[in-house]
Amino acid sequence: MKDFNPQVYPSYEKMSQAAAEFVWQDMSGYFPKKYVLGLATGSTPVLAYQKLLKIIASNKPDLSRLYLFNLDEYWPISYDDQCSYYHEMLSNIWQPLLDMKLGFKLQNAHIPDGQAENPHKNALDYENLLKRIGYPHLQILGVGMDGHIAFNEKGTSKRSVTHVVKLAASTIKANKKNFKNDLSRMPKQGICMGISSILKAKKILFLANGAHKKPVIKKFLKFTPTTDMACSFLRLHSDTTIMLTQDCYAK
Ligand code: GLP
Repeated sequence: MKDFNPQVYPSYEKMSQAAAEFVWQDMSGYFPKKYVLGLATGSTPVLAYQKLLKIIASNKPDLSRLYLFNLDEYWPISYDDQCSYYHEMLSNIWQPLLDMKLGFKLQNAHIPDGQAENPHKNALDYENLLKRIGYPHLQILGVGMDGHIAFNEKGTSKRSVTHVVKLAASTIKANKKNFKNDLSRMPKQGICMGISSILKAKKILFLANGAHKKPVIKKFLKFTPTTDMACSFLRLHSDTTIMLTQDCYAK
């Protein structure tokens, strides 16, 4: 089982810069060959994405064989809903990449379908797509307040593949701010990659920042793999890099 040796940064800005450079170094080793990047939503990676986009814009690689996979999406939710992860990705990543005119194609950007009539079928199709195109060369991960990765809540098996989840009360509480605190607007389910799908990435980059994450990071750095905390399964992965800000680091 792997030991965790987190890289600790004095600020969110510094961690995000290091994360962006880490992703760039990995992807630029493959371009113009096919490269599959696994993306996370949530506030944690937002600045790293902005910095990565700047690096890409200045290096101008051929992006025609860049594939993007998102970890999860709420269900049900419409693509137009400003709170959907589809919308978040379109504005933060996909559109800026398209605007660079470096060959990136929207059909190479994948996310579970919040509008799917049958979410279970969509989950199965998504896993098959991952198998067909290839699991990520690098998967970026944030972590929820209860230790979830994607929407894999407490109790999720390490053998899980993309599946439909019922969001935990703590996740609804943490994420309702994104829905203007209006619980009636917030879906209570999601479609997300499972633990085993996530662990199939060649590399994983785990990011966390902020004092509010200190309790979860303390457990994360201590726990051996347990279904009590999905992120603990990252110990089973052979190449996980952990970047934290000082304010959430606790031994
Ligand atoms: C959501 C997402 C996760 C994300 C988590 C943490 O629940 N499904 O993928 O890691 O939030 O979000 P934040 O980075 O905003 O703390």
